[in-house]
Amino acid sequence: MAKSYKVEMGQTVFWVEPQETLLNAATRQGVKWPYRCGQGACLSCLARCISGTVSYHGMAPMLSEAEQTQGWFAGCLASAETDLYISLEG
Ligand code: FES
Repeated sequence: MAKSYKVEMGQTVFWVEPQETLLNAATRQGVKWPYRCGQGACLSCLARCISGTVSYHGMAPMLSEAEQTQGWFAGCLASAETDLYISLEG
């Protein structure tokens, strides 16, 4: 059985399945995460990875290399590769 990853976001904790997007996992578990398009175009779902690794399977958002280096990712496209600590507020 594939391993789920633990995602901590402030006081909130949820779990994400391998290759499931972080936005899908959060909303499925009742965690509020602002978003609009769900397709990587609007960037309203931006979040920052404080620790851990996210990756994209297929489409990647239009983020600069600097933004990605700072940990920014689009929750509607990104999946977890490890347990994560993330923030929606930068
Ligand atoms: S919801 Fe639009 S980019 Fe993620």
